[in-house]
Amino acid sequence: MPTSDHLIIFDTTLRDGEQSPGATMTKGEKLRIAKVLEKLRVDVIEAGFAIASQGDFEAIKNIAETIKDSTICSLARALDKDIDRAAEAVRPAARSRIHTFIATSPIHMKHKLQMQPDEVVEQAVRSIKRARSHVEDVEFSCEDAGRSELDFLCRVIEAAIDAGASTINIPDTVGYAIPEQFGETIKQLLNRIPNADKAIFSVHCHNDLGLAVANSLAAVSHGAGQVECTINGLGERAGNASLEEIVMAVRTRQDLYTIDTRIDTQHIVPASRLVSTITGFPVQPNKAIVGANAFAHESGIHQDGVLKHRETYEIMRAQDVGWHTNSLVLGKHSGRNAFRSRLLELGIQFDTDTELNEAFTRFKAMADLKHEIFDEDLQAIASDTRQKEDDGPFGLVCMQVCSETGVVPRARLTLTMDGTEHKVESEGSGPVDATFKAIESLVDSGCNLQLYSVNNITSGTDAQGEVTVRLERGGRIVNGVGADTDIIIASARAYIEALNLISRGAEKRHPQGADV
Ligand code: KIV
Ligand code: ZN
Repeated sequence: MPTSDHLIIFDTTLRDGEQSPGATMTKGEKLRIAKVLEKLRVDVIEAGFAIASQGDFEAIKNIAETIKDSTICSLARALDKDIDRAAEAVRPAARSRIHTFIATSPIHMKHKLQMQPDEVVEQAVRSIKRARSHVEDVEFSCEDAGRSELDFLCRVIEAAIDAGASTINIPDTVGYAIPEQFGETIKQLLNRIPNADKAIFSVHCHNDLGLAVANSLAAVSHGAGQVECTINGLGERAGNASLEEIVMAVRTRQDLYTIDTRIDTQHIVPASRLVSTITGFPVQPNKAIVGANAFAHESGIHQDGVLKHRETYEIMRAQDVGWHTNSLVLGKHSGRNAFRSRLLELGIQFDTDTELNEAFTRFKAMADLKHEIFDEDLQAIASDTRQKEDDGPFGLVCMQVCSETGVVPRARLTLTMDGTEHKVESEGSGPVDATFKAIESLVDSGCNLQLYSVNNITSGTDAQGEVTVRLERGGRIVNGVGADTDIIIASARAYIEALNLISRGAEKRHPQGADV
């Protein structure tokens, strides 16, 4: 009988999270996030949807080969070809899981699947048996369970458990549920299904009504043993339940919950930052746990209270979730060893000496410009250096931009294309516009610019700016990120990174959008 002494955290940042429009990640980026999830001690990492694309398949396989302490899972529709592909992708993992799903709500069965309920039960059972022929650990999801009929859910779940599923997931696919009602559904399922004790019940809530975390917690109170969630609440449409909020709610209110997670919460903020940098989705300042203001006290009364006794206004300790005051770490006299050791303390390790040397050169250049170098600066340098992991056809050699009152801004750049240098220049409505136009005068990419955003990495006017550029071409969307104390240079880097991603791009299909 599968039981667990802790609340199982199933992270789907790399699968459902990646389904957010614009959040597509490269294989290398997915692996970096998976490593942080492993450090967080996430129990299950849903690494992707193997049949969706060759890129997704390779990313899952790569993660399965590398990660040792978390179970690696691939999503699969209830179809033989999906299940076989998922099995192949997770095969190298120390612990592997196949997660198969089929819709069970009247609206999905009638209009999307065009199948009778009996056929749905039959297909679910067949797929679970096939998945069990590959792996021990099979999860079954009743897609759109939030709008499915309770009697039918009981029927399909009983059959799924008999067929060998050891985790039964109840997704609120469209974010329709309300906490009291969703908690009651879980309670009813656990009471009414005769073999319910042979599986762990899981929930997967979407945030369309802003209730994903509340619904998940209501389910935990009524016996759910696994929660599916994502870092920063990333995911389809309004997103999924946020991992950091679920974990900290359960940890902080142990007076109410009889169960806790195994999560090492000190890695929460670094994980949030990494996901935000890679996807280009900034974290809102007032976001619980990981927002910049989550532990900031502005009002005099609050500040006074906290100074007298921290717990007057704080229910969690900032350092317990990985916040630390911007610590001054290195300066222009610091050497390569100090640089490498600090990166290691931050959990950053380069694969090659060339990458380390390049990052060190950038650190030295920054130390000349900026008096204080913070951990966040080092993280940005490391992230920017690594983005060149799959060198693309385009590169920036040098640039000069003219910005003067009463004069049309002009940018001159030297770029490389397939190893050959080209000089380009253009005017624009501003320095960034001129820079992008100059790049396009050479590349002529045909891309649409969907997003341009600049964030301060640390505070102060000498801080590095982190620029995200989102480009779209033929339905494919990529994010390029660049960081520099000069935000025009950061913008050029981000744009070139996005062009490189587009030009290397693989096709990606949407799991729930595909025909079943
Ligand atoms: O939201 C959903 O229903 C899903 C399933 C595939 C679990 O993401
Ligand atoms: Zn989902």
